[in-house]
Amino acid sequence: MRTSFQFSKALCCVVAMLRATSLAPAETVWLSSLDLAQMTSGWSVPKADLGVVGKPISIGGKQFARGIGTHAESKLRVDLGRKAKRFLAKVGVDDSAGNQGSVEFIVAGDGKTLWQSGLVTNGTPAIAVNVDISGVRVLDLRVTNGGDGSGSDHADWAEANIEMVEGAAKPVALPAYEIISLQTKNFTLNLQVGDDGRLYQHAIGADAGDSEPHRWNEACPQSGDGYIWEPSLQIVHADGNTSTTLLYDSLTRTNETDGREMIRIRLHDPAYPFEAVLCFRTHRDVDVIEQWMEIHHQESGPVKLERMTSSSLLFAPTNLHLMHFFGDWGKEMQPTMELLTPGTKVLDSKLGVRAHQFRNPNFILSLDAPPTENSGRVIAGSLAWSGSFQCAFDHNGRSVRALAGVNPFASTYHLKPGKVFITPTMIWVWSSAGLGDMSRKFHAWARDFGFRDGHEPRTVLLNNWEATGFDFDFNRIVSLYDPAKAIGTELFLLDDGWFGNKYPRVNDKAGLGDWSPNHQRLPNGLAPLASEAVKRGLHFGIWIEPEMVNPKSELFDQHPDWVIRQPKRELELQRNQLVLDLTRPEVQQFEWRVIQDVLSVPGITYAKWDGNRYLTQPGSSWLPADQQSHLWIDYTHALYELMAKTAKAFPKTELMLCAGGGGRVDYGALKYFHEFWPSDNNDPTVRVPMQWDYSYFFPVMTIASHVAHSGNRPLHFACSVAMSARFGMDLDLVKLSPEDRAVCAGAISAYKRIRDVTQLGDLYRLERPHDAVRGALNFVSPDRSRAVVFVFQLKDGEASPVRPLGLDPLKYYVVHELNPAPGRADLAAEGKSITGQDLMSSGIIPTCSKALEACVIELAP
Ligand code: DGJ
Repeated sequence: MRTSFQFSKALCCVVAMLRATSLAPAETVWLSSLDLAQMTSGWSVPKADLGVVGKPISIGGKQFARGIGTHAESKLRVDLGRKAKRFLAKVGVDDSAGNQGSVEFIVAGDGKTLWQSGLVTNGTPAIAVNVDISGVRVLDLRVTNGGDGSGSDHADWAEANIEMVEGAAKPVALPAYEIISLQTKNFTLNLQVGDDGRLYQHAIGADAGDSEPHRWNEACPQSGDGYIWEPSLQIVHADGNTSTTLLYDSLTRTNETDGREMIRIRLHDPAYPFEAVLCFRTHRDVDVIEQWMEIHHQESGPVKLERMTSSSLLFAPTNLHLMHFFGDWGKEMQPTMELLTPGTKVLDSKLGVRAHQFRNPNFILSLDAPPTENSGRVIAGSLAWSGSFQCAFDHNGRSVRALAGVNPFASTYHLKPGKVFITPTMIWVWSSAGLGDMSRKFHAWARDFGFRDGHEPRTVLLNNWEATGFDFDFNRIVSLYDPAKAIGTELFLLDDGWFGNKYPRVNDKAGLGDWSPNHQRLPNGLAPLASEAVKRGLHFGIWIEPEMVNPKSELFDQHPDWVIRQPKRELELQRNQLVLDLTRPEVQQFEWRVIQDVLSVPGITYAKWDGNRYLTQPGSSWLPADQQSHLWIDYTHALYELMAKTAKAFPKTELMLCAGGGGRVDYGALKYFHEFWPSDNNDPTVRVPMQWDYSYFFPVMTIASHVAHSGNRPLHFACSVAMSARFGMDLDLVKLSPEDRAVCAGAISAYKRIRDVTQLGDLYRLERPHDAVRGALNFVSPDRSRAVVFVFQLKDGEASPVRPLGLDPLKYYVVHELNPAPGRADLAAEGKSITGQDLMSSGIIPTCSKALEACVIELAP
């Protein structure tokens, strides 16, 4: 049994131990012993144990032997390793300020103000500071100018010292600002937290020293609280307050895989339970940064999001060149280049659906001069959003802010408490070596993250659209299979016109929405058509346009309220059709059922998903009156859900993204697809520059290119152009002359030989075809053992050497023209084995020199 004596002895020991811990002699570290080179001062430099003018520290007539003399605005950050106990000092304006000087001293720990002096003026006796800093990691000591400018603001941290716990490591002075660095191999995006707690960005292209936080440098500027330029975020709080303040809260960094990091920066509004998280995913090796924003809150009611960008990067050079792309049906992706000048340049779409018909959300900024293929600092921006978008370039005379996101036009979004709004992803791709390097990195990223099955070469496709249009039946389609097989195509795609009974789809005026195969044309449905193709060793694909309806359809008869329209307005038709309201659950179910029914037909392994009109009367009979403005965004989200479900349920079915030509070309939708239809214009002279321009952003295996009679160009030329992208045909093979058939068969067989190089290799754009005599490009296999060079003669010219790039200089390559045009002399270098070095410096003289001739050259071991 323990005696009371023993017990009280034990208790005494515990008490003694506790006292020993709490009364452990604290280790005092004088502030002036730290590395003051890290401390900022508004004038001169901070001095150890002296006033800032170099004389002894003196406050209110009293001198102090130790301390730091500085000048407002001044800041010292100290890493305490959470091992400090107290901060002590005597502060005041140094007597050297004469009868001027007014400052404020602030002590903060991990971003929270722990003590502040209030206004201190010259002559005021030293004020004692004694602050508990236990548990603090970073101590911030600031002197502000007291709000009246910093003339004569000599300020002293006299006798300043930190009490550390026994045995703790000595505190370390840190750089004045915490830099949040987002890094890839050749690109750094630096963000920093300012003294005011806001998040700032070091402008891209700025000199290293030019990093002072100013309001115009905010990383995510908010409207209504001091920011005067184009904001990233504009909201109305639940109580009607139209201002937002975002302060830095916290940061998380997660290594997703080696070379891929996720960075989440949490910002909060100090006056409201409102948060925005800036999200970045960096892809180190390919210099790609994906960015988006997540917004959520716990306010008393919905918050109105008026403007919410995905990204708003700031650039320092004010001589930025912007390359962007406009177009129309049949004329998609026309490049234009301009120097950005003061003011705001806006590229946008207000179409909602088929939103990229006139402009698309891909652009390039060049930091040095107009961009070139092989040199210069460039950054590509690509917004992954299929709906209405806005890219704005706000040039304020000092810097340029590139904002990208959903279009705020008529799109106020009422975000309920507890719900999260996630903006679309903005993809940025950097290069210090010009457009070519930028594209190759973009393509490498895209093969892994931008579209489906990016490492599997594609088949050769034959589409019936140009051959038959709407005019076909079972026998006519089956009659196309044997010639298709004989010539070497591998996949047959049946286009529009296979459905509708009460209102047969024999032209574009009726039947859309009634997805039952037409009994007269296809009495036994789609399955026999597919199985006849499969029997011959052909894959079979089908066209659908699930989002649309003709008013002349059974679907519209039954559900006139399912379409997007404005009450009390005449229906505005485009291509005789309307858009179904995908925000409505019945429509979502209907479209999903259509997709399931069609893609489940045995033998169907490919689908072309079309969408032939945009929104011009944006009214939803499903959304409540106060949420009509949600239509643009909710439609696109519902569409993505449908696409995601399709990709998941039919993982082996290849999908082509199409919207009346290239009306929907973006990585938001493409990630569920394998390729896109760039344009209904199949004229190869138009396709040469158009494919060049798409290739800035998209690998050629995603750019469908079909040989057709459009423009009446020689088929050898048309085949060569299509071979340089995702090859297909849109021809009535039965009607081809034997010569043309041989040219096509030769192209298909050559294509099969090189498709792994063109589709999976690196693209080098060599000679820009726009308004030029010819265009040229080459592809190099990932191991650099093989390459293919394409030369397209657009006007009569000289057969001058074409110089490929990206070859292994030491390797020997055998030169061989693929599918030479009948009747032309052999390539001078045919069959020769030449080093990569010689090929790149001396080039190869192609066999083409006259307009509409082409030459495709294989370089192989
Ligand atoms: C528009 C597409 O761009 C064409 O290729 C074709 O599929 C038609 N629609 C069919 O209606």
